[in-house]
Amino acid sequence: MEQQESKQVIFSGIQPSGNLTLGNYLGALKNWVKLQDEYDCYFCIVDLHAITVKQEPKNLRRRTLELLSIYIAAGIDPDRNTLFIQSHVPAHSELGWLLNCNTYMGELGRMTQYKDKSQRYGNHISAGLFNYPVLMAADILLYQADLVPVGVDQKQHLEITRDIAERFNNAYSPTFKIPDPYIPEAGAKIMDLQDPSKKMSKSSDNPNSYILIMDPPEVIRKKISRTVTDSIGIVKYSDDQPGIKNLMTILNVITGKSFEKIEKDYEGQGYAQFKNDVAEAIVSELEPIQKKVNDLISDKTYLENIYKTGAEKANYIANKTLRKVQKKIGFIPR
Ligand code: TRP
Repeated sequence: MEQQESKQVIFSGIQPSGNLTLGNYLGALKNWVKLQDEYDCYFCIVDLHAITVKQEPKNLRRRTLELLSIYIAAGIDPDRNTLFIQSHVPAHSELGWLLNCNTYMGELGRMTQYKDKSQRYGNHISAGLFNYPVLMAADILLYQADLVPVGVDQKQHLEITRDIAERFNNAYSPTFKIPDPYIPEAGAKIMDLQDPSKKMSKSSDNPNSYILIMDPPEVIRKKISRTVTDSIGIVKYSDDQPGIKNLMTILNVITGKSFEKIEKDYEGQGYAQFKNDVAEAIVSELEPIQKKVNDLISDKTYLENIYKTGAEKANYIANKTLRKVQKKIGFIPR
């Protein structure tokens, strides 16, 4: 616990709205694990964000606890990090409202994720979906986060967070730390297994497009063997072979083997053995995590203890920021 105060603060979150993919794991979670020594990390399960689109209550409940289990099973130590559920810290909703009153409709209307999603959901777009980035700004600003690890799809939301914070600081007085995006050194972007020009996503209609963190080994093996590749037949890290390139990236991130080494290892061999080895690497990475998730998920008392302790700490920090904001706005202190 030495020098806790001087460590930079990191905030990030994942929605409990679907099953996590290998892309989420290699692109986000696996990197978070590396941050926990150097930073004061808040890892949140953003259930308030999840309900911007319709969620079945029992699925939301199950996925929230499963996501917490996945955080821990992936190696995020609940003693060294603050793991919590967003709705357990009311300050997120409260600051969200206050920031909504300092955000313009025009800025929110320009968010590409909103534009994409509102096209997909047609007439049934909730006001929450529109205001989503403001809640995300509240998440980040409450903890005075220095750095926010996000994928490219969330960069625009981080920019609006900075705009909202700067605007508030200018209108009142310096209140919020202006957060920077955290770009990991080896940013692994895992692509769709059937269409490697797209990012791997759980929202794809074809389950062969993605691998889920909780996919059983035989399913992982089948999906990898069905990965779309090419007719070139040489294992080479090249933009002309996006399917092979993606599998090489997966192997590289999991095993640490360089692309040159991988190319050498499979010289003159075609794709069968290579695909086989990629599948086995994924299985050996995910199998221990799956076992741990299954153990954790049945230990409700342990999980409850973690999320309650996390919420206590998060509430304390978040309320400090919220009180400052309320005072500056002109609300009567309670
Ligand atoms: N919007 C993010 C996503 O869908 C999740 C999220 C919510 C988040 N609040 C956050 C990420 C704060 C980083 C920081 O990926």
